[in-house]
Amino acid sequence: MPLVAANWKMNPNNLDDALDLVRGVMAVARGQADRVEVAIFPPFVWLSAVSDLLVESGVKLGAQNVFWEMSGAFTGEVSPPMVKALCQWVIVGHSERRLYLGETDEMVAKKTAAALSSELGVIMCVGELLDHYDEGKSDQIVSAQVRAGLASCSADDSARLVIAYEPVWAIGSGKNASVKANNVQQYVELPLCDGVLVGGSSLDADEFAHIVKTTSEVYGHR
Ligand code: PGA
Repeated sequence: MPLVAANWKMNPNNLDDALDLVRGVMAVARGQADRVEVAIFPPFVWLSAVSDLLVESGVKLGAQNVFWEMSGAFTGEVSPPMVKALCQWVIVGHSERRLYLGETDEMVAKKTAAALSSELGVIMCVGELLDHYDEGKSDQIVSAQVRAGLASCSADDSARLVIAYEPVWAIGSGKNASVKANNVQQYVELPLCDGVLVGGSSLDADEFAHIVKTTSEVYGHR
C-alpha cells in the first residue's frame, strides 16, 4: 500500500489549528483506508493530543525526529521508546535538520538503527544540494547518503524502512519535485515510487485530500 506522509514541520503554532487539521485529514483518510496509508507528523508538543484524536481512525502518527539513545542525560532530546508510546513512524535525517541542526550521515545512521530497534517505522530522508545537482553528482551523493544511513541496519529492518528522496533544492520551493496537488500524479506514477512525503501542501486539508485521492487512484490502477 502506498504511504502518504504529512510532514507539518514547525506548524501550526496552536493546538486548535493542529486538531482542526487532523480532523480534515481523518475525513479524507476515512474513505481510503484500504488503499493508502496516511501518516501525519506534527510537532512533538501536539503528538499526545493528536494521538487521542486519531484513535480508531486508521490514520498513523509519526514524529519528525528522534534521538539515538534510549534514555539518559540528553537535554531536549526524545527517545525512541517515548516516540513509540504515541507513534508508529518517525522521520530521520530530514534535510532541514541536516542543514540547520548539523545532522550528519553518522547521526542519521544511529537514529535510524535506534528507531528500528524500538519497532518504529522509519522514513529516512536523503537528497542532494543544488550544487551537487548542477554538477551532475545527484546519484553519487544520494547513494552515499543511503549507504551511510543504513550502515547499522539489517535486512530484517527493511520492512519498516522507507527512503524519502527529496532534492534539497526543491523543498519548499514549489519547484518540480516538491509535491503538490497539481503535480502529485507524475510522481506516484513512477514505477519505483511507493508514496510521497508532503511538506507545505500537507497544511491545507483540501490540498492534502487531493494528494491522498490521486495517490489512491493511481495505485488502484496498478
Ligand atoms: P515541501 O517539503 O513539500 O514543502 O517541499 C517536503 C519536505 O520537506 O518534507
